[in-house]
Amino acid sequence: MPNLAFTMISWVFLLLLPITIAVGKLPQAAPITSERISGSAGDVLEDDPVGRLKVYVYELPSKYNKKLLQKDPRCLTHMFAAEIFMHRFLLSSAVRTLNPEEADWFYTPVYPTCDLTPNGLPLPFKSPRIMRSAIQLISANWPYWNRTEGADHFFLVPHDFGACFHYQEEKAIERGILPLLQRATLVQTFGQRNHVCLNEGSITIPPYAPPQKMQAHLIPPDTPRSIFVYFRGLFYDVNNDPEGGYYARGARASIWENFKNNPLFDISTDHPTTYYEDMQRAIFCLCPLGWAPWSPRLVESVVFGCIPVIIADDIVLPFADAIPWEDIGVFVAEKDVPYLDTILTSIPPHVVLRKQRFLANPSMKKAMLFPQPAQPRDAFHQILNGLARKLPHQKTTYLKPGEKILNWTAGPTGDLKPW
Ligand SMILES: *[C@@H]1O[C@H](CO)[C@@H](O)[C@H](O)[C@H]1NC(C)=O
Ligand SMILES: *[C@@H]1O[C@H](CO)[C@@H](O)[C@H](O)[C@H]1NC(C)=O
Repeated sequence: MPNLAFTMISWVFLLLLPITIAVGKLPQAAPITSERISGSAGDVLEDDPVGRLKVYVYELPSKYNKKLLQKDPRCLTHMFAAEIFMHRFLLSSAVRTLNPEEADWFYTPVYPTCDLTPNGLPLPFKSPRIMRSAIQLISANWPYWNRTEGADHFFLVPHDFGACFHYQEEKAIERGILPLLQRATLVQTFGQRNHVCLNEGSITIPPYAPPQKMQAHLIPPDTPRSIFVYFRGLFYDVNNDPEGGYYARGARASIWENFKNNPLFDISTDHPTTYYEDMQRAIFCLCPLGWAPWSPRLVESVVFGCIPVIIADDIVLPFADAIPWEDIGVFVAEKDVPYLDTILTSIPPHVVLRKQRFLANPSMKKAMLFPQPAQPRDAFHQILNGLARKLPHQKTTYLKPGEKILNWTAGPTGDLKPW
């Protein structure tokens, strides 16, 4: 049992101190540094993918990508926008090859999340048909899909539950990963261990958060972190979960009910204009699951040097094979939410300082962002590094002549309609 009185006193002391190492500059402003996080997984963040893989970008009619974006430019700014920026990035990337015969990986530029409600929420319902249509097209016009049935192809599927294409977990599980994508490498935001919507070998990426906007809200790095715990967002989703308990598996409701009156907790549904600044004034930022285990708060916390408190059982975090999440963040089991105050106040100050030092490393922040134009070590490069680490392809990637594994007519009949 930790000495609570003592740690509380040291906390009060810490809160008063300006923690100068708490937040570094955003990658754009950071000097190029060769600093390595020695002895940790962070090392591979520095890898340069150029020369380690070649990617062929299929040319598709614009109705699969650009036209969708023209119809609703909000697709460029929502948290699924990585699918668009990855396409743009690859077109001018040094890893791109125009000769498919020498490609290690094939990329199909489809924007499955660019179908928004009037309120700007992405609808996943057309995505299976868009995907099927695109795959039909590439398999009819090029020989490469049939050679592997997609095992050397990668797709960006940043939806809540990736290629399961539904925002409600139960429905997503029922649907499963779109049958035609079963052999492909899926680059997705969703990550949860032992979940039907996460295939082994998938690459989990950060959600998109606008780098320039974040940069514009930076405050001096020596600003004291006077907020102990910070959170802005929904606790209940009454529109989609009227009876409660299903949204965030009850974890967010529990945060609110237990800590709404606790002075250490600055939590609310109001989204203030100082949201980004507030995160830079906070020591801990709650990152609870919502409908999906992940949210943009993960990215914001890292970029703003606020220790992410990850409340999402079995979550698989972005680039978990490269980013030392255990060193950066605090993991709290969903069932332990009622003890959040004790858990967080019991963390010794030297451990907090150590986590803040890790967070201040520019490599961590870079890996979380999709800047335009791309920069070395950013999230684009981490995706390529992930693909490069899967090479060379295994023998099982290539099918015998005439061999078929995928079932083109499997799945809900609604998905089989032409798009
Ligand atoms: C790939 O296989 C499908 C049948 O599964 C066939 O319709 C198509 O023509 C094949 N593509 C090529 C390029 O041979
Ligand atoms: C493909 O899936 C459909 C629908 O589930 C099923 O009826 C059919 O038997 C499957 N075909 C093969 C070859 O497994």
